[in-house]
Amino acid sequence: MPSRTVRHSAAPLGVIGGSGFARLPHLQSARRQAVTTPYGRPSCALTAGTLSGHKIIFLARHGDRHTIAPHEINYRANIWALRSRGVRNVVAVYTVGGIRADLGPGALAVPDQIIDYTHGRESTFFDRSRGGVRHIDFTHPYCEALRQRVFKAAAAAGEEIVVDATYAATQGPRLESAAEIDRLERDGADMVGMTGMPEASLAREADLCYAAIAVVVNAAAGRGASACGVSLTDLGLVTRRAMKRVHRILSLLVGPDGD
Ligand code: HPA
Repeated sequence: MPSRTVRHSAAPLGVIGGSGFARLPHLQSARRQAVTTPYGRPSCALTAGTLSGHKIIFLARHGDRHTIAPHEINYRANIWALRSRGVRNVVAVYTVGGIRADLGPGALAVPDQIIDYTHGRESTFFDRSRGGVRHIDFTHPYCEALRQRVFKAAAAAGEEIVVDATYAATQGPRLESAAEIDRLERDGADMVGMTGMPEASLAREADLCYAAIAVVVNAAAGRGASACGVSLTDLGLVTRRAMKRVHRILSLLVGPDGD
């Protein structure tokens, strides 16, 4: 199985929140930290605080008011900012459309693979300005040690979680056509979102241990309840309900037994 087993438990846990998860409620002693990076500004100021007695640094990927579209996110600045504050483990929260039959709205999954369909995004730290070409191994894009911690926390929370799922990262901001979803499925994708890349590969370049909790908020285009179209009004309700469950998993992940 995958290789990444490094644990950095004394360091703060980084949490990157996506749509519907722009803040971490119940974060104690929360304070905002504006950070500038060589790549410009992150999506928003970081919020540092404690959850179950453990240090957390939270970042809202789309900004505090959800104004930054997936292709406009400064992924490099976000990852750099977390790293510069001592973060070594990052749990990202994604909202996704479910392609596989068992990934209906409300399902939670911890992806183990990624396929990248994005384009035109600044996707590496290793360019001419920073010492030139370097390569990373990305065979297993997610950190297995951190995935295991998420499984354990989900079990403690009594939450069922899908542990093997391939995430397709599309460019957005539009949703996909039914034929595009058919193609993603043929490629081996189980769910689809817009923000998983280049976030995951930048985290690997920065030597961060990175895992994700994906919340299925709709059936992907042409599937299930989205056979005739994706209902954007249903998304908000599903998202709000699921995020409470994600929050509980995160609390247990950093709690006395999760560490
Ligand atoms: N497609 C892409 N991104 C998404 C979807 C979807 O159906 N649902 C939530 N994010």
